[in-house]
Amino acid sequence: MRILVTGGAGYIGSHTMLELLAGGHEIYVIDNFVNASPVCLERVAHLSNHSFFTTSANVLDEVALNEIFQSFKPEAVLHFAGLKAVAESETLPLSYYEQNICSTIELLKAMDRHECKTIVFSSSATVYGVPHYLPYDEEHPCTPVNPYGRTKYFNEQILSDWSATGDRKSAILLRYFNPVGAHKSGKIGEAPHGIPNNLVPYIAQVAIGQRAKVSVFGNDYNTPDGTGIRDYIHITDLAEGHAAALDYAMHHSGAEIINLGTGRGHSVLEMIAAFETASGQQINYQIMPRRAGDIDSFFADATKAKTLLGWHAKRGVDKMCQDVWRWQSDNPAGFKS
Ligand code: WQD
Repeated sequence: MRILVTGGAGYIGSHTMLELLAGGHEIYVIDNFVNASPVCLERVAHLSNHSFFTTSANVLDEVALNEIFQSFKPEAVLHFAGLKAVAESETLPLSYYEQNICSTIELLKAMDRHECKTIVFSSSATVYGVPHYLPYDEEHPCTPVNPYGRTKYFNEQILSDWSATGDRKSAILLRYFNPVGAHKSGKIGEAPHGIPNNLVPYIAQVAIGQRAKVSVFGNDYNTPDGTGIRDYIHITDLAEGHAAALDYAMHHSGAEIINLGTGRGHSVLEMIAAFETASGQQINYQIMPRRAGDIDSFFADATKAKTLLGWHAKRGVDKMCQDVWRWQSDNPAGFKS
């Protein structure tokens, strides 16, 4: 099948591309490389032994979108492109609303102009906000507490309304929990710009000696060891989930919201210990005050993905840490290495 992948040079997009290329799909990538490197796509081509088309452009660019749809005629779209830093979204809300929401509208208009009826969207568990109950299932109320999370939630509404205009349109909205890990080759992985916001990339940079210690944001949460609990999911499990979602989308119409998580939570201190075991490195850390906006604990009810897609996460935190360690130690400067 011909698939347009927006944001294909990013962490989740690139790992998903490897799955799709292995499945025999033809891919076209549109990426403006604001948060990604062209080197990543070179490595995807090498690892998959497949070539694919790429346009360096913003998904807001109607002309670029029309050219892609006219020449490539995608039968489906995987929409990863978007700004994704929670803290940054608090200071630049208009940039987040314009980029993340207007790009989705431009994309859907182009799909309508070119009879493309299938989309899989990169949503996030941040749409849930403060838990009313755990684990989060897809019926849990959505009260996102930051502009980034609200862009994901608004996009879900837009995509649901678009898919309801009939004519066999299909929108699968995947709510990711905490993606971590790297491809088993160690050739591609998460390469945050500057100081990592997220826990595992920060731990990895401590492990290779780039950072002195991990700041553990709070040990007074209502959890067994006092540190925050999250549902960490291996990036390759997540990529496999997208391939299953695409297959489902091609055979069903309307909108479906699906959690992609493991259903298990791990604390900050557990992740630090797991990374020490995987890397053989001591990870120094210091307990610091809580980070604004963080909550004690959240993890997924992953039942629907199993029932609807026949998918479940197979890889545990040890594998996640081993694969991150290989990627980080082989590529100390990420794709600049
Ligand atoms: C995990 C835990 C922190 C860094 C975010 C986004 C979410 C999604 C995944 C896009 C928490 C603690 C962290 C550090 C720490 N991204 N922590 N020291 O906040 O659960 O989710 O990334 O969709 O939208 O909100 O992930 O990795 O930042 O934090 O102690 O240096 O690690 O308090 O308990 P989070 P995270």
